[in-house]
Amino acid sequence: MLALIVAVAQNGVIGKDNSLIWHLPNDLQFFKKTTNGHVIIMGRRTFESLPFLLPNREHWVITKSKGFNAPEGVRIFSSPQEAYEAAQSLDMAFVIGGAQIYKEFLPYVDRMYITEVLQEFDGDVSFPTFQKDDFEVTNVVDGVVDEKNTYPHRFVTYDRKGQV
Ligand SMILES: NC(=O)c1ccc[n+]([C@@H]2O[C@H](COP(=O)([O-])OP(=O)(O)OC[C@H]3O[C@@H](n4cnc5c(N)ncnc54)[C@H](OP(=O)(O)O)[C@@H]3O)[C@@H](O)[C@H]2O)c1
Repeated sequence: MLALIVAVAQNGVIGKDNSLIWHLPNDLQFFKKTTNGHVIIMGRRTFESLPFLLPNREHWVITKSKGFNAPEGVRIFSSPQEAYEAAQSLDMAFVIGGAQIYKEFLPYVDRMYITEVLQEFDGDVSFPTFQKDDFEVTNVVDGVVDEKNTYPHRFVTYDRKGQV
């Protein structure tokens, strides 16, 4: 199965200045738990925004650059199609962003894990609009707001109709 995982503000924003905007430890935990042990597929800009290689996950990075210097263990792909084909042999893989890569993979994902952050933010990249009719909401869990997680949020799973 190919899934994507993303945290999206109420106005669609997902990032600013090549980084995340909000601090929501509950979502980081959800991301860690969900993607643990799996391949994570990302654009070159998202890869460069990571503070370090995420443990216990194989990083696949998409770039047009022939000279991209990747750390050992990181697999490079020259197009989303190439990564998509390689992912066909896996039980599970996660597209983890950013905006360009979500847009290119949206037609191909079977499932989307969307953390809805119920507040508007100022940003420079957004999650692409998608046909809600193509998906069925199969799980919704409200996040717990506390002193460390100050924004209301919920974890929503969308499964592509007729696929899962
Ligand atoms: N809220 C969230 O859950 C979340 C998750 C992930 C990222 N983000 C945010 O999203 C932002 C980054 O997103 P972004 O859209 O700017 O960049 P991105 O999608 O991470 O990466 C874009 C890069 O991917 C490569 N690429 C894209 N399409 C390609 C194609 N068809 N063929 C070959 N290579 C291709 C290109 O690399 P080259 O230029 O090297 O060719 C392009 O510059 C950051 O602010 C980040 O924090 C948010």
